[in-house]
Amino acid sequence: MCGIVGYVGTQQALDVVLAGLRRLEYRGYDSAGVAVQTPAGDLDLAKKAGKLANLEKELAEHPLAEGTVGIGHTRWATHGGPTDANAHPHTGAAGRVAVVHNGIIENFARLRAELAERGRQFSSETDTETVAHLLAEAVEAQQAAGTEVDLAEAMRGVCRQLEGAFTLVATHADAPGVVVGARRNSPLVVGVGEGEYFLASDVAAFIEHTREAVELGQDQVVELSREGVAVTDFHGEPGEVREYHVDWDASAAEKGGYDYFMLKEIAEQPKAVADTLLGRIDAEGRLTLDELRIDDSVLREVDKVVIVACGTAFHAGLIAKYAIEHWARIPCEVEVASEFRYRDPIMDQQTLVIAISQSGETMDTLMALRHAREQGAKVLAICNTNGSTIPRESDAVLYTHAGPEVAVASTKAFLTQLVACYLVALYLGQVRGTKWGDEIFEVIRQLADAPKQVEQVLETMEPVRELARSLADAPAVLFLGRHVGYPVALEGALKLKELAYMHAEGFAAGELKHGPIALIEEGLPVVVVVPSPRGRSVLHDKIVSNIQEIRARGAKTLVIAEEGDEAVVPYADHLVRIPATPTLLQPLVATVPLQVFACELATAKGHEVDQPRNLAKSVTVE
Ligand code: F6R
Repeated sequence: MCGIVGYVGTQQALDVVLAGLRRLEYRGYDSAGVAVQTPAGDLDLAKKAGKLANLEKELAEHPLAEGTVGIGHTRWATHGGPTDANAHPHTGAAGRVAVVHNGIIENFARLRAELAERGRQFSSETDTETVAHLLAEAVEAQQAAGTEVDLAEAMRGVCRQLEGAFTLVATHADAPGVVVGARRNSPLVVGVGEGEYFLASDVAAFIEHTREAVELGQDQVVELSREGVAVTDFHGEPGEVREYHVDWDASAAEKGGYDYFMLKEIAEQPKAVADTLLGRIDAEGRLTLDELRIDDSVLREVDKVVIVACGTAFHAGLIAKYAIEHWARIPCEVEVASEFRYRDPIMDQQTLVIAISQSGETMDTLMALRHAREQGAKVLAICNTNGSTIPRESDAVLYTHAGPEVAVASTKAFLTQLVACYLVALYLGQVRGTKWGDEIFEVIRQLADAPKQVEQVLETMEPVRELARSLADAPAVLFLGRHVGYPVALEGALKLKELAYMHAEGFAAGELKHGPIALIEEGLPVVVVVPSPRGRSVLHDKIVSNIQEIRARGAKTLVIAEEGDEAVVPYADHLVRIPATPTLLQPLVATVPLQVFACELATAKGHEVDQPRNLAKSVTVE
């Protein structure tokens, strides 16, 4: 939520910062702004409501001075609407300081009132402007005391007064060649190039310049200057950091010939699934998850699993519950992370909490995992972002290897979260020696085929696209499923809501007759995810009856069913075939048509699928 970039080096800062913001625009696109230090010893600044393109237009008409030190921001509005005045950077001290911010300063109202009493004039409604004035005051105090301006020291003093979650990046005209950053509960990484240094919310912002990164810790302040990078805590003590090499390159963060990132990311799913499986199945076909960092003996003692996650990741968690309870025979609860800590959940040392998050920065999930650890539970993160906060604060991590996901609507990250959940469920079953030993062995083998099967689904999506285009004017779409098909239905509905801005609901098909069937009327499109007729045929028979029930009431049925399932044919107005898989693995193939459906329908309605309205990729506020 909000993208931040800072640069100190030898290139034109504006070019570097704008290119970085372009890569971070998925984090928020309500407004954007930049500031650079000028050769004359001032700051030059521009900011504009709306997408980055508005700012770029403004800069083309009114260019900024040249300069090799700068900062930038792309905003997802919290305090104050998306206006020019509320856009970052914010300034204090007659424009000599510029501050950009991600997060929420919870005590800003009190701080703002105190600043106003001291005569500071505010020009926006944001919490961020408070920081700009505090920083300006701290620098003025240094100047009044006759000491050299130390922007990092000023930032440390400001941070000690702030409550809430924040990433801050600032530059000051009286601290030439310096950019400082600070982080608490919000992401900020440092990029280390040859004689140039970067700060950003995400490595994607500087990946075209360097793949060497430094992960900042909680409550740290970093100073970038031409001499290098200095990190301290909020009290000036040297800070511990972790250096790492980013294992993907700039091309992974580009559209690569696709019209939208979402299309590219849907297409990348076979590789993402394969990469997430890579190295985790040994030559004997057993799982090896040495990276888990939780001893098998601890996993044998686990008596309850609790999964916390938000949105699409929550849907992956719902599917994980079926897998964990079946293969590992451990009771498993799943809860949306934003509700979890507020209901006094019961946990102890034998509880394994699994926090699922693509970004690793979702504040609701982070707070849930902190609460779990306070209760003594062990936390395992399933995460796609190396170095992010959630894995860092967990006892163990299983990384998904989806690569950077830029489109706001999650696709490839979801499929890899499913793979990671299956791996955990199967591994728990493996180490605990449940009665499903032979089945586990067989499923691991079938999981290895998943990339091929996802590929196969992708090759047959043209009729789904055609159908989606024909439904652009539908008032609503319902999604039904049973067993793991139910969370798939929820995910299909979420994709359609967020991309096509349509009323879309997912239901457990059996629940329909308890109320929602009243929604069915002539011509209403209903997508039905049908479980395999092999194995649990009762489940299959039940859903076939459900399809008949809705069709009898006029629904137009889009049926997603396994190849060879002939029982559904008479009741399907449109039939989408998916490869045969074990029931529990079916979401890996059944979700793909729903992603394509939502993406195409949204495009037909003229929506920008990569940046749906009101949303941001990484939700770093509660
Ligand atoms: C929907 C979507 C969101 C995220 C949710 C959690 O397409 O992407 O619902 O799944 O905001 O995000 P992460 O996984 O980063 O914690």
